Amino acid sequence: MNRRQFTQLAFAAAARPAAAQESQPLYNETYRPQFHFSPKKGWTNDPNGLVFYKGEYHLFFQHNPFDVKWGNMTWGHAVSSDLVHWKQTENALLPDKMGTMFSGSAVMDWNNTAGFQKGEEKTIVLIYTAAGGTNPESKDQPFTQCIAYSTDRGRTFTKYSGNPVVPHMIGNNRDPKVVWHQPTKQWIMALFLEGSTYRFLASPDLKKWTTLQDISVPKTGECPDFFEMPVENEPGVSKWVWTGANGNYLVGTFDGKRFTPEVMTQALSNGANYYAVQTYSDLPNRRRVQLSWMSGGKYPGMPFNQQMSFPYEFRLRKYGVSSYHIFALPVKEIESLWEHSKSWNNLELKPGENPLEGMAGDCWDIAAEIEPAGAIEVGFKVRGRTIAYNVKEKEKKLSSANLSAGMAMQNGRIKLRILVDRASVEVFGNDGEVVIPSCFLPEPGNKELGMYATEGTARVASLVVRPVRSIWR
Ligand code: FRU
Repeated sequence: MNRRQFTQLAFAAAARPAAAQESQPLYNETYRPQFHFSPKKGWTNDPNGLVFYKGEYHLFFQHNPFDVKWGNMTWGHAVSSDLVHWKQTENALLPDKMGTMFSGSAVMDWNNTAGFQKGEEKTIVLIYTAAGGTNPESKDQPFTQCIAYSTDRGRTFTKYSGNPVVPHMIGNNRDPKVVWHQPTKQWIMALFLEGSTYRFLASPDLKKWTTLQDISVPKTGECPDFFEMPVENEPGVSKWVWTGANGNYLVGTFDGKRFTPEVMTQALSNGANYYAVQTYSDLPNRRRVQLSWMSGGKYPGMPFNQQMSFPYEFRLRKYGVSSYHIFALPVKEIESLWEHSKSWNNLELKPGENPLEGMAGDCWDIAAEIEPAGAIEVGFKVRGRTIAYNVKEKEKKLSSANLSAGMAMQNGRIKLRILVDRASVEVFGNDGEVVIPSCFLPEPGNKELGMYATEGTARVASLVVRPVRSIWR
């Protein structure tokens, strides 16, 4: 979006009254995600400020508290002790005379580099864009980067009196993502400039920033992320990963001054509705967990609009001779939501048969290891959505409705993991090598669950079907 569009949208949204459709019980409405985060009421887009401190996962989010459409950008806030159950709390950042509150990140200032710490509690620092010109109070102000801090474990936030910390540079520059670089003991900011260009900046204290480098990454825009990850199958090696808003990523090295990509852009998601990705800062055990806005989902008649993806845990692996690839799977914490599961082993699946006949529901976590063997296609039908693996074409492919990605068999087998919620289906192939997230709008009465094979018999080595409990009750 350009600045004029942002401004028009913001003013139009501000003028509209809040949409209130509250005849259904809160958090149990027809299209309310049952194990994905969505705001209690109003609009959300990007996840912001993902940070972990003292047993709490913070999820800030682009929020319009007043309407189910984009506008009045405010940082909403939710807290979780397990990445799964969320409690929405007070809004954290409200629009001010520098602009409405656009996307950004959060860090733990362990060494009190910014000097905000009072007492023992470490400071959480939010780094955000003040989108000048998107509310009447900030008329004629540019987009700048600002900080705010909390000395009470994220209960309250104070905007820094010296804001902005990064002055306007170009266009609608925005979406600062900050990470600590231990070897050079400085903060590194990845910032979106415009088009498909991004900037890296460095700071000793989160307040004074200097430019390091600009990069241009075709087919991306907005919301960069930048982090280091160990390579799982190369002991002792770690790489720096850069992602754009759509999840496309580069893998390379970073020496505190320059990011040198070694592997060119790869898509993390082969789906739709996966945008404004961001990973958690300060997770224990070097875990890397990404959330995205499932942009573009439809939630007719709901008091809220839009939802987050389920949190995906990353593994970075050497892939082929000279490449690196991110494997993404749902975080293991989902296990606490599993209900009585049903499982099968070594099942012959013949055309026309459906071993899941009679099972019905709206939220599932399905895991299967399948040998297509004589079948041309094997898959699931969930609430009107077909998830299929087709072996016929030259490039064998995994699909979810009309979205698809090439995926090879491993020793004649494929692995599938499928998360189904009331308005989304997330498909993970071969341990997260292929990820196809998307939103859907099932017929409310359609709770069907089926598995099928066509034109020959497939062998289902293992199958586990788990109903998923709501996080809201
Ligand atoms: C991405 C984005 C960001 C911006 C925010 C505004 O979806 O356009 O670039 O900061 O949303 O809500």
